[in-house]
Amino acid sequence: MRSWRSGKRGDRVARDGQGLEVSNAGTSAIEALDFLNEEWLRFGNKLDRFVAVADTEESCAMLPLMAANLVFSMNTTDGHAAGLRYLGRARALGADATPRERAWLAATTAWAAGDGPAAQKIHEDMAAEWPRDLMSAKLGQLHAFNRGDAEGLLRIGERILPANAENHYAWAMHAFGLEECNRLDEAEAAARTAIEMERRDPWAHHAVAHCLEARGRMLEGVAFLESMSDTWETCNSFMYTHLWWHQALFLIDLDRTDEALALYDKRVWGVWKEFSEDQINAVSLLARLELRGVDVGDRWADLAQYLKPRLHEHYSPFLDLQYLYGLARAGEQSAVTEMLASLEDRAERAKPFEREAWAEAAVPAAHGLAAHAKGDHADAARLLGQAMPHLQPIGGSIAQRSLFGAIHLDALMRAEWNDAALSILQADERERPTVPATKRALAGLYRRVGRTEQALAADYQADQLARRYARAGGGFA
Ligand SMILES: [Fe+2]
Repeated sequence: MRSWRSGKRGDRVARDGQGLEVSNAGTSAIEALDFLNEEWLRFGNKLDRFVAVADTEESCAMLPLMAANLVFSMNTTDGHAAGLRYLGRARALGADATPRERAWLAATTAWAAGDGPAAQKIHEDMAAEWPRDLMSAKLGQLHAFNRGDAEGLLRIGERILPANAENHYAWAMHAFGLEECNRLDEAEAAARTAIEMERRDPWAHHAVAHCLEARGRMLEGVAFLESMSDTWETCNSFMYTHLWWHQALFLIDLDRTDEALALYDKRVWGVWKEFSEDQINAVSLLARLELRGVDVGDRWADLAQYLKPRLHEHYSPFLDLQYLYGLARAGEQSAVTEMLASLEDRAERAKPFEREAWAEAAVPAAHGLAAHAKGDHADAARLLGQAMPHLQPIGGSIAQRSLFGAIHLDALMRAEWNDAALSILQADERERPTVPATKRALAGLYRRVGRTEQALAADYQADQLARRYARAGGGFA
């Protein structure tokens, strides 16, 4: 329901579909904001329609303000410049801004200045003050995600849920915070509640995928994502390629690497090759396939073409590390050298709140990844080992960051640092006892250190699991 009434200063204040006040908004502005709310929360592929309306808006500050947030989230130099222009227009139109709109202006200004924690704090406060503002909660969770702040993700979900118990998007947002805090049962229940309310909620599918992945429930994962995949055709490239990336992870752990590689070619890489999120899904999937011994052919070369323009961007250490590994695996040595130097400069310029992520995690990890790509496994093991305790603040999800742990483990095994490799593998096996490749790697290590009985037992278990998965069938992709 929308209604018009007089604002405090005589300006016109309307309400959007969530019941939130919007200053200086005509019918078309309200319609555009409601469209944006729905399209962003469902990860739709028509967000450009909102931007087109925002470009011509002459009175409502919220339109250019939301456009600024949208283009900042693209992680590109052009997007950042466009975001600053939208932010300037929003300020010019914002003389009559409501308190909520002023909070949006402050959060967006903080983001523009690279101060993610300040932006997140404002969105967290907004989640308490205006819990019906789901876009604000979504942006707050994005900032928390970009800092690896699982508790922040969860706080926001907890704050919005009571006022949005009828809203499946709120349940899905809450589910992801729970999952990143390792509260997997609650997370899965919340995500499935969302799906019962509305089957077409890709963020809820995504939260279920994370829960199943964390517990090594791969057969369920493949069947679940397959059963929901008909609803992804109108998703934006991030959500579409990322959900298929999750499907590929399940397939890899089921030893169905041919199908995972086919998914790379058909679904994960090629939707929007210029987009950062598509690129990191692709890097991460090729790397994981190689770690399982798959020859990925010349795929790195195609991917690297799209990574080369990003050497000096530094929007996020989590993104940068994956760009760098992609370039290194493609053999783009001069680009790697240039990016390593640029990353060191970025770390030196880091503000106190981001020092750990850039200086203590990204710099040694980047050198370690470059060393791994070249086959210098002892250097890779040492440098990645330095970075691993500091990895969470670089951002990304637990499942995404596990790529770096997997490369570190590979380096340890190849460098024959057996004790360190063994303790990591044993922990992996305890957490996800259903993965044949983990059992096989354990068997190899046990054999190397003379623990023959344990090697035979691990091999036997790997065979049993592999047989079970083979009986369950393949041919998915
Ligand atoms: Fe994910």
